Amino acid sequence: MEVPIELIRPSPYQPRLTFNTGDLKEEIERDGLLSALVVRKRDDHYELLDGERRLRTLKEMGWKTAPVDVREVDDVTARRSVFKLNIVRENYTTEEKARYFKKLADEGMKAYQIGQELNVDDTWVRAHLSVFQFPEDIQEAVWADQLSISTIRELEAVIGANIEEAISVAGEAIARKLTIRQVHDLVRPSVERIDKARVEAARQALEAKTQVLGAAAPISLETPEDYEKAATALREEAKKRRLESLTPEERAALAAQREQEAIEKQQRKEEAQGKREEARQQEIEDEARKRAKEIVKDNNLVREFVAGEYVLTAGDVRAEDLREALMQKLMANIPEEKRQRAKDIFDEEFNSLQKRLEIFPEKSAKIEPKFTRFKELVTRGVIPYTVWDFPDRDDYAGDKDFHGNCSPQIVEQCIWRLTEEGDLVVDPMAGSGTALDVCRKFNRKCIGYDIKPPTERVDIIQNDSHHIPLADNFVDMVFIHPPYWKLVFFTRAEEKLPDLSRADTPEQFLEMLKEVFQECYRILKPRKFMCVLLGDLIRDGSFVPLCRKTANMAEKLGFVDYGYAVKLAHGEVSRKKSGVIVAEPIYTDNLKISHDAVMFLRKGGG
Ligand SMILES: C[S@@+](CC[C@H](N)C(=O)[O-])C[C@H]1O[C@@H](n2cnc3c(N)ncnc32)[C@H](O)[C@@H]1O
Repeated sequence: MEVPIELIRPSPYQPRLTFNTGDLKEEIERDGLLSALVVRKRDDHYELLDGERRLRTLKEMGWKTAPVDVREVDDVTARRSVFKLNIVRENYTTEEKARYFKKLADEGMKAYQIGQELNVDDTWVRAHLSVFQFPEDIQEAVWADQLSISTIRELEAVIGANIEEAISVAGEAIARKLTIRQVHDLVRPSVERIDKARVEAARQALEAKTQVLGAAAPISLETPEDYEKAATALREEAKKRRLESLTPEERAALAAQREQEAIEKQQRKEEAQGKREEARQQEIEDEARKRAKEIVKDNNLVREFVAGEYVLTAGDVRAEDLREALMQKLMANIPEEKRQRAKDIFDEEFNSLQKRLEIFPEKSAKIEPKFTRFKELVTRGVIPYTVWDFPDRDDYAGDKDFHGNCSPQIVEQCIWRLTEEGDLVVDPMAGSGTALDVCRKFNRKCIGYDIKPPTERVDIIQNDSHHIPLADNFVDMVFIHPPYWKLVFFTRAEEKLPDLSRADTPEQFLEMLKEVFQECYRILKPRKFMCVLLGDLIRDGSFVPLCRKTANMAEKLGFVDYGYAVKLAHGEVSRKKSGVIVAEPIYTDNLKISHDAVMFLRKGGG
């Protein structure tokens, strides 16, 4: 806001005695006034808190109004801020400081109050005030920096007891340009004498007033401890008298100030504590990092770590770091695009393992081998959950344009989990050859059959898989992706092939599939798996539960049901770019089927 310049008055607490306005004038002429004056409102005028040099300059330049920022502050704050604002900008001269302190002292403030209010050492305030006890020539010498305030401080004791002596020493100090040390030595005998006299006076006072100490017996001043006790008592007494000498307002102000100081002290303490805590955390982190590096180098430790032993003993930060290190080691073996998922899985599993081990530490030995196996699988990229979501089909295997193809990722999951390198996998309904290509990539052998292989896939053997030309107990895994009954026709009607997609009814389809499964069971080695990728469907408004019926049928053949994973379907959904699972609009009573099942069936025996 703008106010008439004549309404702005300088602060009565301005310590500055001289103002240099020259350079500021140039600056204002060039750039204008960059910051508003800070004032507080008085009855009929504004009192300046900050900006006296600017105010003077504006007046010299003939400005009629000035921009001001009006603050609401009490006298004490006004006094303090005027002093502080100026001292941070430029040091006051000794004379400015001394006169300012004297003004406050003349208003009734004690040196220690001035010290507290301005947050400066009160002996320093006292030394400035003492200057006024000297004759003018010595005062001039102080203002001219020929005699320092520190020297005056050395003379403090003497000033109080014998001002004549202090004047004489000060004169000598000026004339002989004495150092502070020399002044100190010069007045030492007097100071010692004064101190002795003080002690004597104190002793007498204490003897006369033993209750000050709360002591039952008369006081004696012989041992150092006696003196310490006496000093404490005197300090207490000094404090009490100081308080008594204050008016109620001053007392309230002092209390408020103490409270403020206590708050600030507490804040400083908390800050320091915070810093210490930060340093401690850093230390833990450094240590953890060091340890993590060792762990990565040392396989034995990795084993222990996986077993949870370190987690049980280490603090959280350390466990985190170790986990990170181990994770990096695991991740190094996983293809880039699978890392995030593998990391999530590992994290989830690790957390639950950690919890279990914390609750049942004695179980850690039992869990360890399982966890090692789990780690191995995660390292391969296996998803150990029942929901699989591959929004994009990897294109390195099979043919994405083959109607009814599957994503290579599904085959990957099955062979990573259930076979080792060099194992033999059979796909009795190979289609465009996805399983064959995936197996080849991951060093598994694979034989693929199909009732009508694509002509370009010479590696797929034409075969009706109602019969599979392989020996019993021969293969390590079967991956089979049958037609979903009539969803897609894989052969033409006139070809009259025993194509499952051409079965007349679901029952006939299941009957045909049963024969194929029997063959699969026969060729599988004992306890080996058959993975079946299949989907339910809706035909003529009716739900056809192919998956459930297939699982029941397989069980009857002797397969042990190991459950299934749900593979989310993205066809239409991804085209709409609207999320993963959607329900068919309410014009039918059925939900839209947006997943397939990957069923795990294990041959018994062994
Ligand atoms: C869903 S597709 C398999 C697709 C394959 N997984 C891929 O990614 O290309 C089903 C396949 O089963 C074949 N099929 C149907 N009846 C068969 C039978 N009796 N013997 C062998 N293959 C059969 C079809 O020709 C078709 O290629």
